[in-house]
Amino acid sequence: MKKTGAAIVGCGTIFAQHARVLSEIEETELRLVVDSELFKAEREAEIYGCEAAADYRVILERPDIEVVHLCTPHHLHAPMAEELLAAGKHVLTEKPIAHTPKAAESLRAAAAKSSAQLGVVFQNRYNESSRRIRELIDSGRLGRLLCMKGIVTWSRLPEYYTANPWRGSWATEGGGMLINQTIHTLDLLQWFANSDVKRIAGCITTDSLGDYIEVEDTAHACIDFSNGIRALFYGTNAYLTNSPVELELIFEQGTLLQRRDCVYLLENGEETEICRPSQIAEGVKSYWGVSHGLLIRDFYHHVRENRPFWLDAEEGSRALQIVYGIYAASQSAAAITRWDPKA
Ligand SMILES: NC(=O)c1ccc[n+]([C@@H]2O[C@H](COP(=O)([O-])OP(=O)(O)OC[C@H]3O[C@@H](n4cnc5c(N)ncnc54)[C@H](O)[C@@H]3O)[C@@H](O)[C@H]2O)c1
Repeated sequence: MKKTGAAIVGCGTIFAQHARVLSEIEETELRLVVDSELFKAEREAEIYGCEAAADYRVILERPDIEVVHLCTPHHLHAPMAEELLAAGKHVLTEKPIAHTPKAAESLRAAAAKSSAQLGVVFQNRYNESSRRIRELIDSGRLGRLLCMKGIVTWSRLPEYYTANPWRGSWATEGGGMLINQTIHTLDLLQWFANSDVKRIAGCITTDSLGDYIEVEDTAHACIDFSNGIRALFYGTNAYLTNSPVELELIFEQGTLLQRRDCVYLLENGEETEICRPSQIAEGVKSYWGVSHGLLIRDFYHHVRENRPFWLDAEEGSRALQIVYGIYAASQSAAAITRWDPKA
């Protein structure tokens, strides 16, 4: 069997999630790891038995590398992906698709021109609980979905930002808690709503980390979708710990609660657990979830079978547009109904 050759660019915190999965997929071979700080690439190359490089452009000259994972700071996603796609390399980029909607739009245009595929890592869409909720929405079993709330209370200490200064800056991170941490929850809310956004009101603040970052650490929003569904959102990085994300979805005939990847149904005054995943993420980084592996495997299936991957530039841009809608609403101190999400 011919193996699909892979490279990972960026050997920081999230790198191992990708490298470990690649080492488990039989049809795939990690051939190169890249980091501008070469010692990091060399350290990982030793562990995963592959080559190391400091400049991702070497990939352009490597016909044996077909898929490239981008695990780099946000502002590098779009320019790197555009160059790689133009050279016919499939790209799987970590979220967000780009650090601004404008950069995301440029990348979307590049992906449309390329024969290769672009995928965006929103792994929580692959969580058993998220899939179960989406099935219930689509089936209509609980009537129409009316309203949702998403609550994320996490903790990021000053060291998280000082250790990696691309974080906490508009130019390189593209925002703060919304674009980096809670974009996953905003993505789930919009995926469940399954509709374009009509109106966003909201506000960002820097409640706790103002001495260290220029971006927000806290935000709230009220998001109205074109199909009439409303989502209320609160997120912060100023909490003591990384609590499980909590989502509530109110339907005509019942309410769903999603917490720690379990789903509970409240119906006729009774609460029942309707989803308890076989694998619950535990440990320090449990809030990342368990689904990187599912998403990465699915991306490779699509690439190998030459089928379009569903979490593409269009899908991968939706949550980013909401993030920037909240920034725009906060700046104008009014609800936004007519912002250009691609500007
Ligand atoms: N999906 C998730 O749950 C999840 C979780 C954590 C991080 N992420 C995402 O992963 C990406 C990376 O985040 P991280 O926390 O691992 O960051 P990090 O700072 O720990 O790692 C980034 C790495 O990229 C390297 N790098 C910087 N510029 C480079 C260049 N020009 N060429 C090659 N390498 C370069 C850095 O040296 C560093 O090792 C971000 O997009 C982040 O949002 C996703």
